[in-house]
Amino acid sequence: MLQGRKILLVIGGGIAAYKCLDLIRRLAERGAGVTPVLTRAAQEFVTPLSVAALSGRKVYTDLFDLTDEAEMGHIQLSREADLVVVAPATADLLAKMAGGQANDLATTLLMATDKRVLVAPAMNVRMWEHPATQRNVKTLQSDGVLFTGPNEGDMACGEFGPGRMSEPLEIVAAIEAALSGGPLKGKHILVTSGPTHEPIDPVRYIANRSSGAQGTAVAEALAGLGARVTFVTGPADADRPVGVDVIEVETAREMLAAVEGALPADAAVFAAAVADWRMASETSSKIKKDSSGRVPELELTENPDILKTVAHMGRGRPPLVVGFAAETDDVIANAAAKRERKGCDWIVANDVSPETGIMGGDENAVTLITAEGQESWPRLSKVEVARRLAARIAEAL
Ligand code: C5P
Repeated sequence: MLQGRKILLVIGGGIAAYKCLDLIRRLAERGAGVTPVLTRAAQEFVTPLSVAALSGRKVYTDLFDLTDEAEMGHIQLSREADLVVVAPATADLLAKMAGGQANDLATTLLMATDKRVLVAPAMNVRMWEHPATQRNVKTLQSDGVLFTGPNEGDMACGEFGPGRMSEPLEIVAAIEAALSGGPLKGKHILVTSGPTHEPIDPVRYIANRSSGAQGTAVAEALAGLGARVTFVTGPADADRPVGVDVIEVETAREMLAAVEGALPADAAVFAAAVADWRMASETSSKIKKDSSGRVPELELTENPDILKTVAHMGRGRPPLVVGFAAETDDVIANAAAKRERKGCDWIVANDVSPETGIMGGDENAVTLITAEGQESWPRLSKVEVARRLAARIAEAL
């Protein structure tokens, strides 16, 4: 599957650079063409000569090499590839990529490319765990950069922990996955997310504490596996996911209309915290506080249940319908009952009692409930919960 594919390999300056010689050999064996670019620091670890010998190609090192510019401008160099791979991706290279710097050939190519970028980080464990690196990793992931590793193990610096570069064959597998478009290629998946706002009058509304973080992470994880994702979101705080079609709505009724308009889909994931009630009648002017001290009585009516509506559709029902159940008591029992009541295939149950810090936080502890049974996952970041859920959806479709 790598036959004839073009890889632009940016080799960073770390001890793991030596593994790139093996990586080039493995890629060449599979018929891929590798164009190597060495940073200045990389040349302290591997020589352009050895890289050229293995790749059978000219090695690029310098942005201001005018001969190269005449032969092939750096823009073209970055675009003719099918995939750009950075290995090893040092803490410094990740920081430059996250910050959008372009002060040498490698970083300029990474800024100029219109292709996907896969990075294989390698660094000391403390450097990997440093908040600055973790911040940069998050930024790059939300920019759509793919990651392989780092692995956990003994490191050249004598420490132990995450920071070892993925092995060449693991990088080859990640390259194959990136180029194949992922297991959800050709699938359309709908994701709802965020709260809804139900107007009380033109200035006030009913809302809830959903940040939209989990729904956003699910949309990104599905897109990362190659799905075409339609993301219908209420007014959420979370940044909008990258690489998906975003439809912004405000109320439950608008969300239902957007969902119906986005069907058909191969799967639908309902992560939105839809307001259960709205005002029974619309008020076009602001409700006034009067001097009598009388408090207005708000007459509410029920909102449409979007998940239930879609799960009960006959023709046109997505083959896999997934709901979320945010509960504070008897989480599993309530969620299992909700799966039956709503008619969805799976339900992702989570405990949102205030002491868990889950609502609005970065982590989630969920139980996946299906017709076959239930499976509790450990407390994980919302991004990791999303990845696991996306992988399960890919298996099911
Ligand atoms: O009934 P409850 O709000 O607990 O159900 C949660 C699940 O139902 C979530 O998947 C949520 O997105 C979905 N839901 C919906 N429309 C509503 C209420 C909930 O799609 N009106």
